Amino acid sequence: MEKIVSLCKRRGFIYQSSEIYGGINGFWDYGPLGAELKRNVKELWWRDMVQSRDDVVGLEATIIMSPQIWKASGHEDTFADMMRECRLTKKRIRADQVEPQSGIVYSWSGADDDSRNYFLHQSPEFNAIPGWQEAVAQHGQERGNSVLTGLVIEHLFNSKDQAKQKLGRAFFDAERSQPMSYDRFRVILPAGKPPEFARKLAIQFYRERRIPHPKLRDEQTEKVEDSTDFHPETFVELGPARPFNLMFKTFVGPVDIPAFPSYDREEGVDFEELDAWEEAFTEYQSNAAYLRPETAQAIFAQFKNVLETSRQKVPFGIAQVGKAFRNEVTPRNYTFRSREFEQMELEFFIKPDEVVEAIAGRVATASEIENRKSEIGNPDWGWGAWLKYWVEERIKFYEGIGLPRNTLVEYWQKPEELAHYARATVDILYKFPFSKRDEQGELMGEELEGVAARSDFDLSQHERFSGKPMGVFDEELRAAWGKLPKERQDELWRRYYENRKKYLTKMAKPGETPGQIEKSAREDADGLAKGQYIPHVVEPSAGVDRLILALICSAYHEDQMPDEKGKLETRVVLKFHPRVAPIKVAVLPLLKNKPELVKKAQEVRNLLRPHMNVFYDDAGAIGRRYRRQDEAGTPFCVTIDFDTLGEKPELKDTVTIRYRDDGKQERLAIGELLNWLLPKIR
Ligand code: GAP
Repeated sequence: MEKIVSLCKRRGFIYQSSEIYGGINGFWDYGPLGAELKRNVKELWWRDMVQSRDDVVGLEATIIMSPQIWKASGHEDTFADMMRECRLTKKRIRADQVEPQSGIVYSWSGADDDSRNYFLHQSPEFNAIPGWQEAVAQHGQERGNSVLTGLVIEHLFNSKDQAKQKLGRAFFDAERSQPMSYDRFRVILPAGKPPEFARKLAIQFYRERRIPHPKLRDEQTEKVEDSTDFHPETFVELGPARPFNLMFKTFVGPVDIPAFPSYDREEGVDFEELDAWEEAFTEYQSNAAYLRPETAQAIFAQFKNVLETSRQKVPFGIAQVGKAFRNEVTPRNYTFRSREFEQMELEFFIKPDEVVEAIAGRVATASEIENRKSEIGNPDWGWGAWLKYWVEERIKFYEGIGLPRNTLVEYWQKPEELAHYARATVDILYKFPFSKRDEQGELMGEELEGVAARSDFDLSQHERFSGKPMGVFDEELRAAWGKLPKERQDELWRRYYENRKKYLTKMAKPGETPGQIEKSAREDADGLAKGQYIPHVVEPSAGVDRLILALICSAYHEDQMPDEKGKLETRVVLKFHPRVAPIKVAVLPLLKNKPELVKKAQEVRNLLRPHMNVFYDDAGAIGRRYRRQDEAGTPFCVTIDFDTLGEKPELKDTVTIRYRDDGKQERLAIGELLNWLLPKIR
C-alpha cells in the first residue's frame, strides 16, 4: 500500500485534501490522472447500467433534501456507529474495531493536588527566585500557608516583571483548583516502555481535571490478556461505547443560533424572554438538514415522478451517481473509508413474489436461474432471481474493467448480519492489500459493493411519512387476479397480508395500535385484486472511490525491462484496462527539434483527440517518455519517427505502436490508427 500511496501522490492520482494546511482526515482530492480515471469509471457504469438497457433510467438529485427523508429512511434514528473515546486524548474509535491488547495495566484510584508541595520545593521557576528556598526553610512548612502566600505576593504578584506576575497567577490558580479527583484511570503499558510512561499519561489526565500538580493515588498493576478496553494508539483506557450518528448536519437559510437571554441576579429569570428564545431555537433546529449519506433515498423519494414521466413499468430501475457524506468515526485505509465519497447506485423495482405468482403462476427457483432455465427478466422472476442476476451483472462489470475474477469475492451476508429491512445482501469484495487474511493466509477482501434485496421497506416508509401513495397499478396483475381460483387468491392474499403486517408492526409509529396495523395490512392486501401493490427493490450499490482504489491496486506492477542501452531496470507500471486508463494514447515525436516530426505528430494527435484522451509529449529521451506513460497506465504509445516521414519509403505515414504491458512494438498506418484503437478502448 505504501508504494501505491506514494505513486498516487507522485503521479497526480490522489492528493490529501487541503494538504497545504496539514490535510483534513477522511477527505481526498483526485489529481489530473485520478480525475480522468474517475470520470471513465463513472461513465462506464452509466453506459452499462443505464444507456445500454431499456429498463433503467437516470436521476440526478440534490445532496441536501428534506430532513423528513432521513426520518423516514431511519437514518436520523439509527444510522450510527457505536464508538468509544480515549479518556485522555478524546480520540474516537469504532467499538467493533478495537484491536485486543495484552500486557500490564497500571491503574490509579484518583489524584490529590500537590501544588503547594510543588511550589515550595520542586518548581524550577520558584527556586530561581533569589532567597526563596531560604525563606521557605526559615518560615517552616507548618506555617507555610500564610507565609507562602505572603512570599508569592511579595516576590511575584506585585512584581513589575510580567513573567513573574504570571507565576504568581499560576500559584493562585492552583490554590483555587480542585483539590482532588476520585476519577479512576488506567493505562496499558506498551512493550518496552518504562512505568513512567503510564504515570506521565495519568498526570496529564488529572491535570485536565483541574489538578495542576497531581499526586497519583493507589497505584496498582494487573496483567490482562486480549483486552479491548484500551485505545490501540494512545494505550489509554476507552470510555463506554456510545452511538454516534454518521450524518453531517448543516442549517438551511440565514439562521444563526439565537443568543441565550442574559440572567439578571436582581430581576431574576425573565420567562417571556426565555419563551421567545425557545421559539427561536426551535425554528433554528427546524432548519437543520443533512448532507445525504447515500444517493438511494432520493431515488425512492422521486419514484412516483420518474414512473409517471418515463413510460417505464415495473420491473425497471432508477440509477444515480453522486456524492455521499458520512462522518465516519475512523476513516482509514487511504480512500477506502472516507468522509466524502461517491456512490453509483441502482434501485431496481420489482414485483413482490405474490404478484409474480399471481401473474406467472409460479416463482422461478434458484437452480432454474443458475442453470439458465428461466430467461432474464421472465415474468416468473421473483426477488431471489433478480438478486442473483444483479450480483452476476456487477461481477461481469468489474471483470470487464480489469478486476480479475480471482481478486473478487461474492459474500452472502449471514442472517444475523443483515440490515433490518434486507431479505438478503450479497457483498462483492475486492482483495485489497490491506484486507484481513483467513487461516490459510488468503486475503479475505473488503466491500466494494453491496447488492441488497430491500423488500418494499423504503417505498413503504416514504408512503407512511409523506402521506403520498407509492404503490403502482399493474393491469397484468388485475387481469390475472380475476382469473385465479378463489383458494389461490386467498393464499396469495394471506401471504401478502402477513408480510405487510410484519413490516407495519416492526415500524409502528408511537400510538399505533395492533388493530390499526391489521386494518392497514388488510387494505394493502385488498389492493392486489385491483392490480395495486408497492414494488420491492433490489439495490446494487457501489462506491466509486473504493473501485478506483481497487483498480489502482490491481493495476500496480513492478517488472524488469531493458533500458535504451539494453540494461535491465525495474519499472513501475499501472496495467489499467484500456477502457478505464486515464490516458488512452500518448503521441510522441522522436525528436523535439525536428519541425517535420513535430508537425506530423501534432497531426496524429489532432486526429485522435476528438475520440479519446490523448497525451502529447516531446520532452526527453524516448525511453524516459515511455516509462512516464507506464507509470500513468497509458496502454499505447504512438511514436512518430523518420520512417513516418518516408526515410524508408515503404514505411511512409506509418507509426510505431508501443504496448505498455510488454513493451512490444509494431508499425501501423496512420490511416488505420483510429479504427485500430477505438475497439480497444471502448
Ligand atoms: N444505499 C445503500 C448503501 O449506501 P452501503 O453499503 O452503506 O449501502 C454502499 O454503501 C457502497 O458505498 C459501499 O459498498 C462502498 O463501496 C461505498 N461506501 C460506503 N461508505 C463509504 C465510505 N465511508 N468511504 C468510501 N466508500 C464508501
